[in-house]
Amino acid sequence: MLLGVNIDHVATLRNARGGVEPDPVAAAALAEANGANSITAHLREDRRHIRDDDIYALVKNIKTSLNLEMAMDEKIRDIALKIKPRAICLVPERRQEVTTEGGLEIGGRWDGKTDECEAQDSDRGQFEKVRDFIRPLIDAGIEVSLFIDPDLTQVRAAANTGAQFIELHTGSYAEAFGTAAEESEFTKLKMAAQLAQSQGLKVNAGHALNYENVCRMHDIPGLVELNIGHSIISRAVFTGLGAAVKEMAELVCL
Ligand code: PXP
Repeated sequence: MLLGVNIDHVATLRNARGGVEPDPVAAAALAEANGANSITAHLREDRRHIRDDDIYALVKNIKTSLNLEMAMDEKIRDIALKIKPRAICLVPERRQEVTTEGGLEIGGRWDGKTDECEAQDSDRGQFEKVRDFIRPLIDAGIEVSLFIDPDLTQVRAAANTGAQFIELHTGSYAEAFGTAAEESEFTKLKMAAQLAQSQGLKVNAGHALNYENVCRMHDIPGLVELNIGHSIISRAVFTGLGAAVKEMAELVCL
């Protein structure tokens, strides 16, 4: 598995003082030097952490590749088409949320109780909107990943959009880690990954992964990349960013 290090919170800290420190580009370089296989940054509509100038500077300076997280916003898509990151990850965004709270709703909802996971015509979620939004990105040679919950209906819908990747939202698994609910949340991830791969999708995962719960990601065959931010930046406060990334890279990229 590969490790994508999310540097949004370096920008959050910088913006708290309105100055230039700490610099997300310097953080990206340090992450790369300590084992990050790619750099992930989320250009939110409200620009609360990463800003346009950060994205331009990252593209110019990073040595690995950029995974740009973005919502279905045409202006941000124009930026992506201009800078051509290696990959974009499409995420839902709500202004008031603290972080990305759930996956994209591309198809109808699956109740988890039956094998029936075809979206109903009357409940097609945002399928057409997503499919049409990502087309120019795919045509430009950018890898497109859709951030979805481990829900079989969403996986099937994602497979029909033309996206090459999905990123499975690991938030519920992370929350359940160490509790009675862990096993069922883990199974959802595993089943979703398996279905996605059988439909020709490549599978990444991320959100709320940390130094403990990340280890079970090795038990999901074929995961390509994990995108991890908060736990690494939190540890970096105590150990330094280089050591925090190195330790995570050792757990992820066995
Ligand atoms: N993947 C996606 C799509 C995200 O939106 C986020 C949060 O920005 C992450 C991964 C990283 O999550 P965390 O900061 O909890 O590791």
